[in-house]
Amino acid sequence: MNTSRNVLQVSGLNVKIDTNQGQLQLLHDIHFNLEEGQILGLVGESGCGKSMTCKSILQLMDPHTFVEGSIQLRGRELNGLDPKEMRRIRGKEIGFIMQNPMNAFTPVYSIGNQFIETIRTHSKLSKKEATELAAASLDNVNLPNPYELLKLYPSQLSGGMLQRVMIAICMCLKPTVVIADEPTTALDMVNQLQVLRQLERLRSECGTTILLISHDLSVIAEMADEVMVMQHGRIVEQADVFQLFDQPAHDYTKNLLNARMQLPDFTSKPTFAYTANF
Ligand SMILES: Nc1ncnc2c1ncn2[C@@H]1O[C@H](COP(=O)(O)OP(=O)(O)OP(=O)(O)O)[C@@H](O)[C@H]1O
Ligand SMILES: [Mg+2]
Repeated sequence: MNTSRNVLQVSGLNVKIDTNQGQLQLLHDIHFNLEEGQILGLVGESGCGKSMTCKSILQLMDPHTFVEGSIQLRGRELNGLDPKEMRRIRGKEIGFIMQNPMNAFTPVYSIGNQFIETIRTHSKLSKKEATELAAASLDNVNLPNPYELLKLYPSQLSGGMLQRVMIAICMCLKPTVVIADEPTTALDMVNQLQVLRQLERLRSECGTTILLISHDLSVIAEMADEVMVMQHGRIVEQADVFQLFDQPAHDYTKNLLNARMQLPDFTSKPTFAYTANF
């Protein structure tokens, strides 16, 4: 059922890929709803299918991959949508922060060229206005000398800087949904905090809905309202963040949480740090 608060509904999502060894099923019968202004966390060990879930929603699949099931954005089916239409939706309606920032940029165009073109594709801003918006967004993610940075090429930036540029692009388009795949992995603590604050601000000021993937359970505990746990391409548990951390139901979730070390509690949310478990 598509109630008005439902923004993104994924149901019966199966993803299969043809390989030398035959067809492999990577995702099995995934169901979830994202509501307006909600932050839904997705956790699970490396290789369980988190990025594959994001790519399926964004219709950015590798060749020889088959996506079955339904992915609805405000009731509009995205699975199988015309690629041109999908390009219009990506960025403006569904913003994304990819796990590997290098893949998100074209090496032969400057950061400014790609940033400003993206803004202008999705808005009516002039080149000057788009440049000012891009510079302000870079400043918001703590990148110094934004006008100089816009002249650089992707290969001239570190992974953490590129990740922040991608976050800045995503933020300034104010999308309805943000899919953030390990958005803080390549960042130091100060920049991690800055990026998390920006995401939180986007949610509180614009009502943006966020699918947040992180291997860092303290980030999930801090940010998410609800959490899904994925194992071998299946969602094995989904619960409110407090319930999941206090009373995990599935053995796999319990194993993940057992690796925790308590950190000083500086918010009302459950805050933990975990040893590298996945
Ligand atoms: N092109 C491909 N061909 C075959 N298998 C693939 C392909 N791309 C991904 N996979 C497999 O799909 C599974 C899910 O990969 P995915 O990238 O979604 O994992 P992940 O949960 O995001 O892991 P990580 O936490 O390391 O980012 C993995 O087992 C991976 O080996
Ligand atoms: Mg991944």
